Amino acid sequence: MASREQFSSRTGFIMAAAGSAIGLGNIWGFPTNTASNGGAAFVLVYFVMAFCLAYPALMAELIIGRHSRSNIVTALRFISPNKATRLLGTGVGLYGVLIASLILSFYGIVAGWMVAYLLEAVAEMIGWSEASHWLTGFSFERNVLFMGVFMLLTMSIIASGIEGGIEKWSTRLMPMLLVIMVALIIYVFTQPGAMEGLRVYLLPDISQIKPALIIDAMGQAFFSLSLGVGTMLVYGSYLSNKENLPKLGVAVTLVDTGIAFTAGLLIIPAIYVAQHNGTTIFAEDGSLIAGPDLIFQILPSLFDSMGEIGVFVAFAFFALMTIASLTSSISMLEVPVSLAVEETPANRRQATLIIGGLIFGCSTIILLSFETLFGFVIDLTTVYSQPLLGVALCIFTGWIWHRNNLLQEIKAGHPEIEGTWFWKVWPGYVKFFCPVLILMAFFQSVAG
Ligand code: PFF
Repeated sequence: MASREQFSSRTGFIMAAAGSAIGLGNIWGFPTNTASNGGAAFVLVYFVMAFCLAYPALMAELIIGRHSRSNIVTALRFISPNKATRLLGTGVGLYGVLIASLILSFYGIVAGWMVAYLLEAVAEMIGWSEASHWLTGFSFERNVLFMGVFMLLTMSIIASGIEGGIEKWSTRLMPMLLVIMVALIIYVFTQPGAMEGLRVYLLPDISQIKPALIIDAMGQAFFSLSLGVGTMLVYGSYLSNKENLPKLGVAVTLVDTGIAFTAGLLIIPAIYVAQHNGTTIFAEDGSLIAGPDLIFQILPSLFDSMGEIGVFVAFAFFALMTIASLTSSISMLEVPVSLAVEETPANRRQATLIIGGLIFGCSTIILLSFETLFGFVIDLTTVYSQPLLGVALCIFTGWIWHRNNLLQEIKAGHPEIEGTWFWKVWPGYVKFFCPVLILMAFFQSVAG
């Protein structure tokens, strides 16, 4: 195999992997899930799930990736001992690539809305009210245009490769995101109603912890850490052998959950501030008005209520959402691109152009038949496919891959690991615990 690119530094990897993990799922999904699942109790269970279940699965992807130094399809074939398991590896890998691409095809649409609302704030600042109207209207033209703009941004970063593309941009964008978010939190905390939101967010009511909440928290943790589709696997494949994998995995999980927690500190109080200002937050049955509504109706009305400064806050918020979406979308596109670059004669630029074009086509088809396809693709990918792929990856790690090779790979970069709890607990843990619990979540979501 030709010499492969690698992340140039540990920080670069952490930024890129955390950038993949942090996205619409954290900043919008986590707070709305928290709000509709009883507040702080959900936060508590989410943290337990992220570290006890998602972290072990993340380690499985990173370890397979670094060992095989390739995309998900080649990697699963590589660790398979016989013909039957190799065939299974090819099937699971290709399914992962398809799902990563389909996730991008709906993610690009939602991220396009973020770009449109970002420009709407600019249009307001300079008094272009007609443009501002068009930007927030739900026309097909607007949706295709901004999905296309977002896809082009994603493709241009991926075409530049690992060090100059993914690593450089994640390292630049991720700290910016934190700065914007903290500034917004400070602003929201000065508003009436914020403290009620903070109480709901921070003081757990343990009686709220029910099976549905546990399963929701687990799903959120898996989606949030970008697990199952080979994203973390391919990022692991660009890691040097010198790196201590278990520690890096902890760092990524900490940063991801930390940003989710911070996003909650912003959104939950903001919801209560909006309610204080007269916006209807909860439906008649007491449930939260969630879905796209939360960000695109409640928050803009919150920004409006801020007076002159509102348009700048809106700009900062949607800039933040666009940045977070971009560092996730590049990790999704890297999954099919790495397969094409490694298994076909295409170079990185050609692969990015062709695959990006195909995904743009898929997104356009979804937009043409929005009512039927949008929800369907989200359910197909996140509710049904991601958990099943997670189970498959745990089975490959725990049951198919030769145990000695697995242990050798964990040892690389961390020679004294044999004395640690990770060495003793993790291999058995991904073999039995993880698949069983993920399957439980799967059947719950199917039944629900
Ligand atoms: N983790 C991303 C988020 O929370 O928005 C979503 C995601 C990224 C899912 C990459 C899957 C993936 F491969």
